Amino acid sequence: MVALHKRTNLWFILAAAFVVTGCGGGTQDEKTSDTKSTQTTTAETAEVPRGDAGKGTALFVSYCSACHGADAKGLKGLGRDLTQNEWVQSLSDAEFLEYVNTGRGVDDPRNTSGIPMPPKGGNPALTDQEIMHIIAHVRTLQ
Ligand code: HEC
Repeated sequence: MVALHKRTNLWFILAAAFVVTGCGGGTQDEKTSDTKSTQTTTAETAEVPRGDAGKGTALFVSYCSACHGADAKGLKGLGRDLTQNEWVQSLSDAEFLEYVNTGRGVDDPRNTSGIPMPPKGGNPALTDQEIMHIIAHVRTLQ
């Protein structure tokens, strides 16, 4: 009986030691390096925030309608018609975002009005997320 009892203790100690070393190894294996970069150089494939057309409508009126009109059909001598606009339709979301962020100077060959499209419509505080909401709104007008 005594011998059996000693054996049981031994197994218990061995098992406990196994669990302890197992745990120690586990924490060292933890992955800490998942800093995958999703940045790409071309606007065509770059990842952009998701836009919400519902939020974009009010933002468009606030930041773009001064030149493009509240209905986005353009204002004479100011911004172009953005509705049923083939060029707009040809842009990916990332390209559209880049365009709004950059604007279009009068020296750009695509500029036909002789008036610059200011970067971010002239509001440097506009975030990419807000612009994506605006873009989602403009998409509903095509
Ligand atoms: C200060 C006036 C002004 C504001 C504000 C403005 N735009 Fe423009 N935008 C222009 C002008 C002028 C053009 C046309 C330039 C040209 O002749 O190519 C233009 C052109 C564009 C075009 C290109 C259309 C095409 O067919 O080439 C897009 C897209 C556009 N604007 C989007 C926006 C958005 C989105 C906003 C709001 C964030 C905005 N604009 C705010 C003046 C403005």
